[in-house]
Order: sequence, then C-alpha cells, then structure tokens
Amino acid sequence: MTTTELDRTETFEVVPSGKPAGAEIRGVDIARGVSEATMKKILDALHEWKVVVLRNQRITPEQQIAFSRHFGTLEPHVLPQYLVPGYSELVRVSNVLDDAGKPIGMVDAGRVWHADGHFLPKPNLYSMLYALEIPHDANGKPLGATLFANTAHAYAQLPEAMKQRLQGLRGANSLANVYARMHAENAAKNRPPLTEAQKREAIHPVVRTHPFTGEKCLYVTRAATGRIEGMSQEDGDALIGELGDWCVREENVYAHQWAVGDVLIWDNCSSQHLAVGDYALPQRRLLHRTTVAGLETF
Ligand code: OGA
Ligand code: MN
Repeated sequence: MTTTELDRTETFEVVPSGKPAGAEIRGVDIARGVSEATMKKILDALHEWKVVVLRNQRITPEQQIAFSRHFGTLEPHVLPQYLVPGYSELVRVSNVLDDAGKPIGMVDAGRVWHADGHFLPKPNLYSMLYALEIPHDANGKPLGATLFANTAHAYAQLPEAMKQRLQGLRGANSLANVYARMHAENAAKNRPPLTEAQKREAIHPVVRTHPFTGEKCLYVTRAATGRIEGMSQEDGDALIGELGDWCVREENVYAHQWAVGDVLIWDNCSSQHLAVGDYALPQRRLLHRTTVAGLETF
C-alpha cells in the first residue's frame, strides 16, 4: 500500500443526506484507482443509502469504465445510437445537439419515475453517471436535479395488511410502457421507435428481494409496470398507481443537485429515480453513464 492509498483510506467518510436515500462519500479519488478495501466500503455505503455521490472527480472514459467494472459486468446500452464514440459501455445522457441538430445522447432520460432496466429479464444492478456539464439558472443555482426514492424503506413502511396482499404478486414491465408515459409528459419525443425486441415485457415480483442485502424492495413504477398478473387491468392499474405513488412520497425522496465532477452511483433494486426537466438549451447538460448488468429477480 502506498502512502497516497493510506491517506485516502484514512479520510474515507460517508455523509448521509438526511433523507432515507443518498449519502456523499468523501476521501476517494477515482482517477488514482480504488483499492479493494475502499471498494468494499463504497459498496457497503451504496447498499445502505441506495445512491452515493463522489464529488469533485476528474476522470477519463477509461477511468470511469475501469471504476464501474469494480461493481460488476458492464452492459452495452439498449439504445446504441447514444454511445460515446469508441466506447460500447459508455452512453451519453445529454440535451446537447450536434452540428446537424441531432441529439448527441439520450435526451430526456428518466423524465418519469423509474428503475433502470426494469423491463429487462435481468434488470440493471447499478448505474453510474459522471457529470461533465450541468445547467444552471442566472444566479448559478444548478438545474436538472435527479430525485431518488428508497424502495426498501417504502416497503418497510407499508401497513402489514398490504405486505400480506403483495406476497407472491408479479408485475409485467416494458420499455414500451415507459415510452408511452414519457410521451404523455411531452418527453423523449424524438427518440427512434422501439424494435419489437425492445418492446418485450419482463415479469418481476412486485416485492423484490435485494440480491446482496436480502432487503425487500417495492419493484413497481407507474412508468414501466403495465399490469399485475392475475388481476384485472383496472385493479392492477389501481395497485400500480398506489404503490408507485407510495414509493415517491416526498419524505422518501432525496434530491440530488448536480455539480460538474459528481460521480453518482445508484442501486436499481432498492431505489427509483426521476430526472427533473427544468432547463433547456442553451443551458447544456452532459453526463456519461455506465450500467452494471443485473441478475434474475426473486
Ligand atoms: C439514467 C437517468 C437521470 C438524469 O441515466 O438512467 O435516469 O437525471 N438519468 O439524467
Ligand atoms: Mn434512469
């Protein structure tokens, strides 16, 4: 262990946001490389707080990919047209247009409450965003926050009768549902149409068990979940709406205000997130995202 490594591990600190989700991790410089011991502490903090931020980072695409690989196997994005050129595992989330007026990345990513890859048979385990450009208002206040809800906390807070009722229920989730929902909110209008494969439904438990912590998490959103198996459309819609709203109650939500250099990592089983669309060009937003592949749900 070098002196620098010693210095860094000694200053490692987790500062909770004060809400049920969210903590800042201090004392880690990703560009210098992260030891196994530090990685374990980062993962523990992520599992406890569902979303963690490392501020003031300065990393290359290679460094982001290398750091992301500590969390698992990286997944190429479902929408390959938005990749950072030359990097199949790095996708741009951005409202910036190229010279031809075409989006350089995913515009309007996450404008409805969702969990990444909810519509996949093996949903994304974690996602990571690195902020390169963040919009702000005339007073310098950052815009384009991302909100996070703790779905383990949401489950734990449910009345016992509801917990009983949810036992064994499964939901059907699809990207087509997400798109319909975003279009209704006037977002993601210019994305290319989905292929039949991209429209496929994935069936997951309504109460999902976290693969590493064993925590029970609500795994339903108004955006992705289109029906509940064995329930009428009407009853399913009512339950999806009720659970979706329960997860994202204000007291269960952490609002992340971005700064350039933030590296944010979240857990897609124990949290849901929403991108706030309170900015527009010429206010520019550009983030680089990696995605960690998931496991079968149970
Ligand atoms: C995402 C996402 C939110 C944001 O990249 O999966 O939802 O604020 N992004 O950009
Ligand atoms: Mn997302």
